[in-house]
Amino acid sequence: MGGFSSEYRISINSGNMVYENLDLDKYEPYRVHILQNEWFVVAADDTPYPINRSDFTVKINGKIIKFDCVFNTIHGTPGENGLLQAYLELLNIPQTAADHYQSALTFNKRDLISVLQPYGIKTAKNYFLNKGDIVDTEAIIEKVGLPCFVKANRAGSSFGITKVKHKDELYRAAQNAFQEDDEAIIESFLDGTEVSVGVITYNGELLALPVTEIVSENEFFDYEAKYLGKSQEITPARISEEDTKKVQEIAKLIYQKLKMKGFTRSEFIFHNGEPHFIEMNTTPGLSQASILPQQAAKAGISLKELYASAIEAALS
Ligand code: DAL
Ligand code: MG
Repeated sequence: MGGFSSEYRISINSGNMVYENLDLDKYEPYRVHILQNEWFVVAADDTPYPINRSDFTVKINGKIIKFDCVFNTIHGTPGENGLLQAYLELLNIPQTAADHYQSALTFNKRDLISVLQPYGIKTAKNYFLNKGDIVDTEAIIEKVGLPCFVKANRAGSSFGITKVKHKDELYRAAQNAFQEDDEAIIESFLDGTEVSVGVITYNGELLALPVTEIVSENEFFDYEAKYLGKSQEITPARISEEDTKKVQEIAKLIYQKLKMKGFTRSEFIFHNGEPHFIEMNTTPGLSQASILPQQAAKAGISLKELYASAIEAALS
């Protein structure tokens, strides 16, 4: 848990929730915090013990602990973009999220969209900016129209996102995105019902969880809507059975085609009756308030079963 990005606090919540819901007859869990400058294990008495970064071990009371598996609850870098995955793959330590390439690809909104479009998956129109590029407002509006969303290309939890209604807000919105990443993606506004679809490997099978409908009280599903109660998350979503199946099938297709692992949660907007893919999270929030655990609960899967399934899938 932890990480180097603005999602740090949310990751700590996810990590603690997993830690508290593991079957202690089966597992001996340790709370590993990975921060920019410090990596350490928080022992039961809250004492921190430094991680040896050359082999990801920790020495506690003279005993060297070598982990069998990492339950990855880091949102953003380095846990969701492949960096931690690559390090752990080199050390032969299994971890619960997607592999390094899949993580890097899916964390990059622009690249993921371009890989999915040939499968017939619909997306918003988009315009890409590197930090330092001229913000050509005419060209942007010609491509994506107004209103539009300006987003950090590689970030989560809505950090760096602005809904832009007027041309003269674009520059500031781009600078806001560049606080989180040195790339920005500007997307057309898709009017319609927003849904979130969890797909997991459960008991060796690919499973699409019940679909959640997002109803934000704010202009969009921003940080406040996500974490400070300014939204309703309705599971199952109030969409037809046919639309539910359709969006679950697309989410499963993405999982299979990209050879994902562990938990994924993809976001879609039904626009003109068709699901449009927005983005995928490969270390989705796992606290009690997060969407994926709510979906699992509706599917009759307890937190203990859900979290154990991720470990068993990583070890298999
Ligand atoms: N990025 C946040 C944690 C989520 O997808 O739940
Ligand atoms: Mg996200």
